[in-house]
Amino acid sequence: MNEFDPDPAGPPVGGRAAEGIVTIERFLADHQPSEASGELSGLLDDIAMAGKVIASRTRRAGLTELLGKVGTVNVQGEDQKLMDVYADNVMTSLLSGHGRVCAMISEEQAEPVILNDSGPYVVVHDPLDGSSNIDSNVSIGTIFGIYRREDPSAPLGSADWLRPGRELVAAGYILYGTSTMLVYSAGSGVHAFTLDPEVGEFLLTWSDLRFPEDPAYYSLNLASAPQWENGMSRFVDWLNRPDTPDLSQRYIGSAVADFHRNLLHGGVFGYPGEVNRPEGKIRLIYEAAPLAFLADQAGGRGSDGVQDLLDIRPTHIHQRTPVFVGALPLVDRLERCLQEEQEDG
Ligand code: AHG
Ligand code: MN
Ligand code: MN
Repeated sequence: MNEFDPDPAGPPVGGRAAEGIVTIERFLADHQPSEASGELSGLLDDIAMAGKVIASRTRRAGLTELLGKVGTVNVQGEDQKLMDVYADNVMTSLLSGHGRVCAMISEEQAEPVILNDSGPYVVVHDPLDGSSNIDSNVSIGTIFGIYRREDPSAPLGSADWLRPGRELVAAGYILYGTSTMLVYSAGSGVHAFTLDPEVGEFLLTWSDLRFPEDPAYYSLNLASAPQWENGMSRFVDWLNRPDTPDLSQRYIGSAVADFHRNLLHGGVFGYPGEVNRPEGKIRLIYEAAPLAFLADQAGGRGSDGVQDLLDIRPTHIHQRTPVFVGALPLVDRLERCLQEEQEDG
């Protein structure tokens, strides 16, 4: 083996490396979700297209005056960046395309956006996650989830989008990092594609990704530890015990990038509830639930500290929740620490 040969042992991740060239279009056609009539594959393809457009603009953001704030705040009271608004417009435009989407819930839109009353799917998304990182050239991403409408002939209403993550038919993210990668699951494994910028196509990199057995990382913003809910200190104590697996801390501040690294190398991303903000920061519908769906499909899980994130039925579209998502042993451990605190407290 020389430095240009691939490692014969395969990738250092719990997935199957692609053999030959498989475009996302072909993969979706060969792996039609059982319930779909090609519509879900078409919708995932539209999202892949949105990813290409956002990736292309992201790469040129510093050259095209797309960095910085718009001067408006979104419904969460956060400054909107030009790229947040741009990415939201791209998603809206591509999801409107084929009449497949009846409604869209976006972090950047105060209310549900109705696209086509009779479309069979609802799409939830965070058009740009980690946007505080844009100006410093750090990885960001788009997170999405897809629900199938239960009764397309019934009037469209909140019951179509205030749904537990367990009902998602697909979810995924596009990560704009050193390369652009699309990772999705439609309920039969998690598959990852890398954008070949020369060819302009997402090509299969790994299929059936699973969290590796031995976790390597935890991703928590330890600067917030003084504000964390009681019980988190039990987890920090556990991390420091000599018999605990040797974990490194890695925290990017883009949930999607932290999740991705932990999916490949084993680990957990957490954003706990805080004393003055018990619901934490992460949004349930378009951040936590899609990531929990992917984790579940990769042999991990997501919890709010008490229950599975996939079992929570939201009561409003921008609802926040504490989040622990990633490799099974670490999410279970975090949950146990928080529950022991409740029992002893
Ligand atoms: P967004 O950019 O979509 O508002 O999300 C940012 C979120 C999440 O991606 C990240 O994990 C978290 O904010 C970081 O928050 P802290 O800076 O408080 O750690
Ligand atoms: Mn986000
Ligand atoms: Mn965002």
